[in-house]
Amino acid sequence: MRVLLIGAGGREHALATALARDREVETLYAAPGNPGIGQVAALHPVDPLDGQAVCRLATELGADLVVIGPEAPLVAGVADYVRAAGIACFGPGRAAAMIEGSKAFAKDVMSAAEIPTARAHPCESAEEAAAALDTFGPPYVVKADGLAAGKGVVVTRDRDVAVAHAARCERVIIEEFLDGPEVSVFAICDGETVLPMQPAQDFKRLLDADQGPNTGGMGAYTPLPWAPAGLLDEVEARVLRPAIGELARRGSPFVGLLYAGLALTTGGLQVVEFNARFGDPETQALLPLLESPLGQVLLAAATGRLHEIPPLRWQTAASVAVVLAAAGYPESPRMGDVITGIDRAESVDGVHVAHAGTTTGPDGLTTAGGRVLAVTGQAPDLAAARALTYQGVGAISFDGAQHRNDIAAHATEPIRPLG
Ligand code: AMP
Ligand code: GLY
Repeated sequence: MRVLLIGAGGREHALATALARDREVETLYAAPGNPGIGQVAALHPVDPLDGQAVCRLATELGADLVVIGPEAPLVAGVADYVRAAGIACFGPGRAAAMIEGSKAFAKDVMSAAEIPTARAHPCESAEEAAAALDTFGPPYVVKADGLAAGKGVVVTRDRDVAVAHAARCERVIIEEFLDGPEVSVFAICDGETVLPMQPAQDFKRLLDADQGPNTGGMGAYTPLPWAPAGLLDEVEARVLRPAIGELARRGSPFVGLLYAGLALTTGGLQVVEFNARFGDPETQALLPLLESPLGQVLLAAATGRLHEIPPLRWQTAASVAVVLAAAGYPESPRMGDVITGIDRAESVDGVHVAHAGTTTGPDGLTTAGGRVLAVTGQAPDLAAARALTYQGVGAISFDGAQHRNDIAAHATEPIRPLG
């Protein structure tokens, strides 16, 4: 089959690498892609937000499957254009992507489907927001309603900071604080059937020990040796199936990747958020361990045949991803710093580097975005995977590079099977 992958980030590089491993994927195209994706796919320029342009390109290339990576084109309805042209597409249409595009919509779906989640107040004014903050008390959770690349949420004990963030947001949601470790569960969906992937954990704060501002994600690992037995079954029964069922009932079946961001609180499982696409950088950690042929699985989802696919197979190994971010990330990332050492990092057995914000120019490879690279390492256990990953990180340099030193640091016990 011929596959066209839309996007240009680290998640798309990991997807491209996994798609290229599937023997049934004869030709892999990516648009617009990046220098890393260009090593495994033929790149074509396109504006990913332009549904007609994406459709035209898919038709010209004779694509059998279009895979849309990032949230912005999904929320813009690009998948609707592709499907209307009769091309199989992995990615929800505009209506179903609202589960990520609007936190108020997601809360409404969760309430209708009785999915456990934090209590929340959508607020229209500063006075309403202040009252809601005082109802819940500290720590305060303040969320902008629309897409914000993982940076629209402020969690703080400082009421002034909470009030100031609420004032900056056009529409704002004030939420009850959820305590407990966070888990990301991804499920491949065809509108009806869900095929969950093994859980991963993401690190959202910029600095070690979960300090500093929220980011798109600074690192991830999988599997989670500490996760309770039966977690995946519970998530499927209480979160994934009800969400997919409710979206289908509303006439907008979800075809694509449903990402459940969960908190394992003392009061039980709670949904923090839904996303409508693979998470970044969890995908960079997860996909190197996937043994099932990704192209065939995504095509089955895009054509309503997921029930024919057996449960996903995973290597019995551990994987860690550490993000290298640009100077100034997340507020104002600096571009144009020269990157060296990727080859040296990848010369270590089990280390791979996913490109996110990179570009090639007269100076060679330079930074071109907030999150620049994700270094991943796979090994028989988490401690070894972590050591490999940080060995890779140590080989790479660019001016002002930022990374966390504590990704997976507290999870390096022996792996036991997840229920
Ligand atoms: P979101 O964009 O909703 O995923 O929020 C980004 C991050 O903010 C989450 O991954 C959490 O770390 C944190 N967060 C969001 N909502 C809550 C909440 N209700 N309680 C505690 N932390 C939260
Ligand atoms: N890893 C967080 C996200 O993709 O939104």
